[in-house]
Amino acid sequence: MNLKDYKWFLKGTPKEFFSPGRVNLIGEHIDYLGGEVFPIAIDLGTFAYITKRDDKEIHMLSTAFEDIGVVTSSLNDLSFKKEDNWANFIKGVFQYLWQQGYNIPHGLNILLHSTLPIGAGLSSSASIEVLMMTVLNHLFDLQLTQKQMALFSKDVENNYIGVNSGIMDQYAIAFGQKDYAVHLNTSTLTHELVPFILKDYVVMIVNTNKKRALSESKYNERRTECDEALKTLHQAGVKEQDLARVPLDTIEQYKDQFNDINHYKRARHASSEQSRVLEAVDALKQNDLSGFSTLLTATHMSLKNDFEVSCDELDLLVDLSLKEGALGARMTGAGFGGCIIAIVHQNIIESFKSNIIDRYANIIGYEPSCYIANTSDHAKYVGGN
Ligand code: GLA
Repeated sequence: MNLKDYKWFLKGTPKEFFSPGRVNLIGEHIDYLGGEVFPIAIDLGTFAYITKRDDKEIHMLSTAFEDIGVVTSSLNDLSFKKEDNWANFIKGVFQYLWQQGYNIPHGLNILLHSTLPIGAGLSSSASIEVLMMTVLNHLFDLQLTQKQMALFSKDVENNYIGVNSGIMDQYAIAFGQKDYAVHLNTSTLTHELVPFILKDYVVMIVNTNKKRALSESKYNERRTECDEALKTLHQAGVKEQDLARVPLDTIEQYKDQFNDINHYKRARHASSEQSRVLEAVDALKQNDLSGFSTLLTATHMSLKNDFEVSCDELDLLVDLSLKEGALGARMTGAGFGGCIIAIVHQNIIESFKSNIIDRYANIIGYEPSCYIANTSDHAKYVGGN
């Protein structure tokens, strides 16, 4: 992208901000079940270029949606409009802060440029939400903490966008650090940064290029099923407040009490995934990359068979990755499409990529895309006037 091409829109020298995307290493679909998760913030993300307006309007343009053009909104009417598409993520942040009583004295011109594939399970939406919190916090000196920015962004996702997501994505983007993974406990909302330097290996992201929007997926349905599963366990006398914290043998013990076998399977995933996260964090701390990677593959099987959020394209990529020599591989993010991650030795990166691309394209009919996931710092002000 060449900023000069957007002079007509920005009409001045912009301030620049960057917000990462995220890759979840392990701990999938348990951030809304009181479990622990282990994501990294990545250096693919969203840039914002901002200039001040003297009126109360926000003008928004994204290089990823040039066809939609400039979306305009007034600070006096920030309601969700389907036709505003991606710009709703920005409007939602303004509306949230406005409603909480934060002072936003004037409008802005906002140009977004994303290096993240959009809608691919790498948190393009949370990246924009935390980005805009960071922008408004910086420009209007709102004194928000990183934790507030993460929690407020999740609120926008839940109540404005309508996806009942957990806190993982926004938290990873607000707290991530280069060379570290974020071991987040979602029941206490505390985290530990764990060094994440793989030396001879890389985290390869392979995108199925199958499009999906979380708001249209079975994401919310899975959450409801998990609520039902916990209700059944409570009726049976189980005391744990969070599904991810119920031991696996307790779930097995009450297997017959579930009136829907799917509820039992969802519970089994939640509990086994929580154990895998703890093992994976330990393995990484011991420099046992092979043990760590085996747990990643086990998570994929659980997401496929018990949580049922994978799809043929994701399963195929995991399968091909393992055949091509990855130490471990799994779908990452919500599923139903999006991306897998694979732990790949540096020496085989090129053959890995070309073989996977060829084989996938032969079967599916179009190519996947490959990127390397480098860790990155959290959302922040980069520079400019
Ligand atoms: C999406 C949600 C997260 C999390 C993952 C699945 O990315 O936004 O909160 O639930 O799916 O682990």
